[in-house]
Amino acid sequence: MSRLIVVSNRVNPPVDAGMGAVGGLAMALAAALREYSGVWFGWSGETTPSFSGQISMQKVGGVTVALMDLEEQDREEYYDGYANRTLWPLFHSRTDLAAYERSFDAGYERVNQRFAQTLAPLIGPGDVVWIHDYHLIPLGQALRRLGVTNRIGFFLHIPWPGPRTFTTLPEHRRLAESLLAYDLVGFQSQDSLIAFDDYVERELGLAMEDGAVAFEGRKVKVGVFPIGIEAAAFADLAGGEIAQATFERMRQSQAGRWMVIGVDRLDYSKGLEERFVAYEQMLADHPDLAERVFLLQIATPSRDAVQAYQEIRARLDAISGRINGAYATVDWVPIRYVNRAHRRDELAGLYRAAHVGLVTPLRDGMNLVAKEYVAAQDPLDPGVLVLSRYAGAAEQMDEALIVNPFSREEMSEALAQALAMPLAERRRRWRSLMDGVLADDVSAWRDRFVAALRGPVDRDLASDSRLLTAEEGDNRKTS
Ligand code: G6P
Repeated sequence: MSRLIVVSNRVNPPVDAGMGAVGGLAMALAAALREYSGVWFGWSGETTPSFSGQISMQKVGGVTVALMDLEEQDREEYYDGYANRTLWPLFHSRTDLAAYERSFDAGYERVNQRFAQTLAPLIGPGDVVWIHDYHLIPLGQALRRLGVTNRIGFFLHIPWPGPRTFTTLPEHRRLAESLLAYDLVGFQSQDSLIAFDDYVERELGLAMEDGAVAFEGRKVKVGVFPIGIEAAAFADLAGGEIAQATFERMRQSQAGRWMVIGVDRLDYSKGLEERFVAYEQMLADHPDLAERVFLLQIATPSRDAVQAYQEIRARLDAISGRINGAYATVDWVPIRYVNRAHRRDELAGLYRAAHVGLVTPLRDGMNLVAKEYVAAQDPLDPGVLVLSRYAGAAEQMDEALIVNPFSREEMSEALAQALAMPLAERRRRWRSLMDGVLADDVSAWRDRFVAALRGPVDRDLASDSRLLTAEEGDNRKTS
């Protein structure tokens, strides 16, 4: 049987089947690999004085992982540089923060070459390669240049920016064309697909027809594959021992107050400053809520070598301090601001204890916290999800209270509405959200992507090509 080879920059499968402090993406990929036998290949996160291309193979949590070290200069130019100082801000529509430095671009290309050279010998005939995220956009093309003809798919976990934003990248054309070396390119949302389509038509002069782009004599399928969570398992986790204990502890510490929760990586795309200010606005608009509610914001520091992250961290310290200073009483603190990472089972308990889940990024590929918050709720007494319209999740979760995260008045109103929402409405909205989270879970996502990647691909322009749905792909395989 052909194996699935997953490639991503960071490789961190959960050691104990999902209880550790790993993020949604790691969970999603580990789930995919446990199902299909395969290998997860990527950077160890370590550096070595001189790149050797040596691979260390290990089995972690039932998943075979293959890791390579990079050089310090690679980390600076590829990871801190092009990935996190150029592409991340650009793709999140923050051109003001994007650094366009040629050394970063060169480092990015070099590391993608290193990935290709190290990975190519691991790929057997019939293996299917699935590459993830903005760190590795040119990897498919680099593998093709080394003669790899296997099916190769790419999935972008973050948003694809609008065409005007994307063209501020000096090497936008080269980067976009490298995507056309894949057999399948997947986005999180329609919004991203439309933006990509727009760019491809306007800048590359190519047409997207029936979900495919024709380029240099071959066809590349392009589609929307919204990522999900291990929904049923997460719901179970929320009812488990550790989550329950966390829930009880929280209930005690709440002392009858409503809790609003936010859980994010500490990143400027998450709208945390705007969230704090909107919460402050709500306290000003509703003095009756003072001492009856608090916001628990967990923000785990990340990418701390990058200045923009140091700055946002300092600003959040200042804003939370200012709001707490202005509103706190001797026995009430309006914002509990926590920078520590938490285990997933603890998080599940915290989500369940929260009356409102506040997920208000300014821009986000999907946002799995929105889905985890829903999955962790008590069906009899569920909390309310307040969700930014700029999270990919908003395309699927329309029974949340959808807000504009740039408007503090609108967010203040939505928060007050969420806190006052009657039980019947909470249950109705939650049921509909939960049905979606269960149906579009991580297995459905993985199966749709892999089926589309394995399914018939008419690489030859002479044949009739169209994008098959996952079901059609499966039927063709078995017939
Ligand atoms: C986002 C990206 C992932 C990345 C994660 C954590 O979710 O889409 O590719 O792994 O952030 O960021 P980090 O830089 O810590 O890997």
